[in-house]
Amino acid sequence: MIEFIDVHKAFGDKVVLAGVTLTVEPGSVVFIIGKSGAGKSVLVKHLVGLIRPDGGEIRFEGQAISAFAERDFYPLRKRCAMVFQHSTLFDSMTLLDNVALPLRKHQRLGQAAAREGAMARLAQVRMDHLAQRMPGDIGDGLRKRVAIARALTLDPEYVIFDEPTTGLDPVSARHVDALIRQLSDELGVSSLVVSHDLRSIFGVADRIVMLYQGKVRLDGTPGDFRASVDPVIRQFVRGLAEGPMEL
Ligand SMILES: Nc1ncnc2c1ncn2[C@@H]1O[C@H](COP(=O)(O)OP(=O)(O)O)[C@@H](O)[C@H]1O
Ligand SMILES: [Mg+2]
Repeated sequence: MIEFIDVHKAFGDKVVLAGVTLTVEPGSVVFIIGKSGAGKSVLVKHLVGLIRPDGGEIRFEGQAISAFAERDFYPLRKRCAMVFQHSTLFDSMTLLDNVALPLRKHQRLGQAAAREGAMARLAQVRMDHLAQRMPGDIGDGLRKRVAIARALTLDPEYVIFDEPTTGLDPVSARHVDALIRQLSDELGVSSLVVSHDLRSIFGVADRIVMLYQGKVRLDGTPGDFRASVDPVIRQFVRGLAEGPMEL
């Protein structure tokens, strides 16, 4: 389980998180929503040690990570992988070798064994037929799937996705949604997903957490969000449904 307990974070005098509490249960898909600048990326970056909290606590499987030294995060990043919004692949390597890289680097596998493991991962995201292609040969949606395959190579228990469908065409976006759902349903992988894609949010989430003015405004099921009479929630959901907004 991942627990954020009363987490505070400010940059200078700008308070971004003013006491955020939420949990991610094993095997579940939790979405973080909120408008641009609400602190969604800041929140999830705490988990992998890219940002340290000013106050409060973050626990990963019961371990308090705010006391971690930098090196304590290395094993955690294998168990809790992050797919950044602009995850980049190495342009000069085949898709297969991109995915094989963490296996060579972290598990010190030889080239043949690493490629074999990478191929299995590519098959999981239905990309194995493109293994020998270069990143430049394929579109954004397929590249995102390869980035997800790469994040899965070390068998993480948790995967954090920061805006996984932003910038993708609708068909690719739905493939990525299905993949996130499949990871949870078939492999028991838990996901924490930052998103403002309404179809993803309501189609994939087990739970949705909305950040607003540094705090959790609502933490509930998609049904709870649809039924909410809170004007802040209603306005946000309506804004997403109506399409382009300042995000
Ligand atoms: N490293 C940083 N230094 C200073 N300010 C930052 C830093 N990272 C984020 N911020 C600020 O924190 C706020 C929340 O950012 P972010 O979490 O990226 O928003 P979003 O919800 O859109 O992901 C923004 O005002 C942003 O400018
Ligand atoms: Mg962000």
